[in-house]
Amino acid sequence: MPQDFEHDVLIIGSGAAGLALALHLPAHCKTALLSKGDLTQGSTYWAQGGMAAVLDNDDTIASHVEDTLNVGAGLCQEETVEFTVRHGREAVDWLLSQGVEFDRREKDGGREFHLTMEGGHSRRRVIHAADATGKVISKVLVDNTLAAKHVDIHAHRVAVDLILSGGRCHGAYVLNRESGKVDLFRARFVVLATGGASKAYLYTSNPDGASGDGIAMAWRAGCRVANLEFNQFHPTCLFHPQAKSFLISEALRGEGGRLLLPDGTGFMQRFHERGELAPRDIVARAIDHEMKRTGSDCVYLDISHKSPGFLQNHFPNILTRCREFGIDITTEPIPVVPAAHYTCGGIVVDNCGRTDLGNLYAIGETSCTGLHGANRMASNSLLECLVFAHSAARDITASLQQVAAPLDTPPWDESQVTDSDEDVVISHNWDELRRFMWDYVGIVRTDKRLERALRRVMLLQEEIREYYGNYKVSNDLLELRNLAMVAELMIRCAISRKESRGLHYTLDYPELSSRANDTILQP
Ligand code: FAD
Ligand code: SIN
Repeated sequence: MPQDFEHDVLIIGSGAAGLALALHLPAHCKTALLSKGDLTQGSTYWAQGGMAAVLDNDDTIASHVEDTLNVGAGLCQEETVEFTVRHGREAVDWLLSQGVEFDRREKDGGREFHLTMEGGHSRRRVIHAADATGKVISKVLVDNTLAAKHVDIHAHRVAVDLILSGGRCHGAYVLNRESGKVDLFRARFVVLATGGASKAYLYTSNPDGASGDGIAMAWRAGCRVANLEFNQFHPTCLFHPQAKSFLISEALRGEGGRLLLPDGTGFMQRFHERGELAPRDIVARAIDHEMKRTGSDCVYLDISHKSPGFLQNHFPNILTRCREFGIDITTEPIPVVPAAHYTCGGIVVDNCGRTDLGNLYAIGETSCTGLHGANRMASNSLLECLVFAHSAARDITASLQQVAAPLDTPPWDESQVTDSDEDVVISHNWDELRRFMWDYVGIVRTDKRLERALRRVMLLQEEIREYYGNYKVSNDLLELRNLAMVAELMIRCAISRKESRGLHYTLDYPELSSRANDTILQP
């Protein structure tokens, strides 16, 4: 039998954003937290470089703000950037209070944080735990959430759609992957913390599950979305036939790692005065350009000037993983290619994570806060997750008593559907979608390619709608449905931007327009 749950707050997602929110909510707030898979599923667990914050005495809020605005290519909301950066120290202190341990170094007889350098930053300001920052944060927050009495955890649950009435969100229909039933989760407040949508692309640094579910659910529920043309491509993912989605952190370039062509020559200085530490969009485009110009399958990242001891200390996971593929980073360059990495746009929210719909919030990568503009600066994402989790928790806590209990809601109706006997339709459409997004909506775009992609995604969606109407839902079908929806929104955003800015580069409009406008889509 499907079940019916009632909570004060329903959090959909167990990444940094969802977990931090759950832990910030007060003990009297009955909370449910969902994850599509295990609690560590999601991008957070895989974060490498770290979290940007103003921690060094020589650093300033103004400098972090300025760097973020520069990298965002004129499209960041300055007030949101200020808000986020100002709360950086508080976010780090909170993580420390939860038990997260970051790398430190000896200085003047004491121990201070070891800070790394990444693209776009004008100084070292990235706090980290070697090259596995996300794993360390995720493990601590998962343990603390498991111990929190006010949080009911439901792993292997997939939110299907939001429940709405009178311009308000009352909960969600949720597929239980173990029973195969669709349960009801009713709540006074619902928070989407569902991560990004980089699985829309054939090659991505993201783990399975980054299918933009929150963006698609919010859009279907009537929320605005913005700036989805700005999908960030990380310049350096490991290029190896067996290495699925393995990132080579930007922190390697922060420590002097150089990008080389197959013949061993450097090229980044030709593209930007900051060379390897230029903003990510510029580095990814430069690599793409050089790969096409030279006809090579990859470029190389060389960090072998550093001692084996240093590499073992700072990049133990990258060193080990590369070794598993026969690459010794202490003596030879690493083959790398760009891959889809981060969804800069998303559900439009304010500084408390409030969406257009009453009692519905969105935090973390699924949201569009205005922090990233046309290009996210490295390590600003974990920061955004933590700062907005806290501000959403404050807002929800303040209004908890004023919001009525959720309404009775009819159960999920599956009287008209049967078990699917043709799952190949799902896997075929999934492959097709990710391939044409890579080919036509990638690092370099044209009107013609975008129009082609739009035609294909509309056809795919017709097929998916028919399938969805006839068969019982499964995780794969739900992800495909959401990914196709978000791909359409990405393409529509890209078509409407008639200029090249940040991550959106089109051969038809190579110039930057003098006016910077967000691309906002209204359902
Ligand atoms: P995620 O951590 O992606 O979590 C999403 C959660 O939502 C998961 O629990 C998932 O199961 C759940 N979910 C999704 N859909 C549903 C649904 N329908 N029903 C139920 N649950 C659902 N950023 C930095 O700032 N610094 C870094 O060093 C860094 N390194 C990175 C390295 C890699 C390899 C990757 C992929 C990203 C990196 N990023 C980094 C980006 C950053 O990790 C992510 O943007 C951030 O962790 C997103 O957190 P989140 O909580 O929004 O979502
Ligand atoms: C990295 O370590 O290169 C990823 C950092 C980020 O995406 O912010």
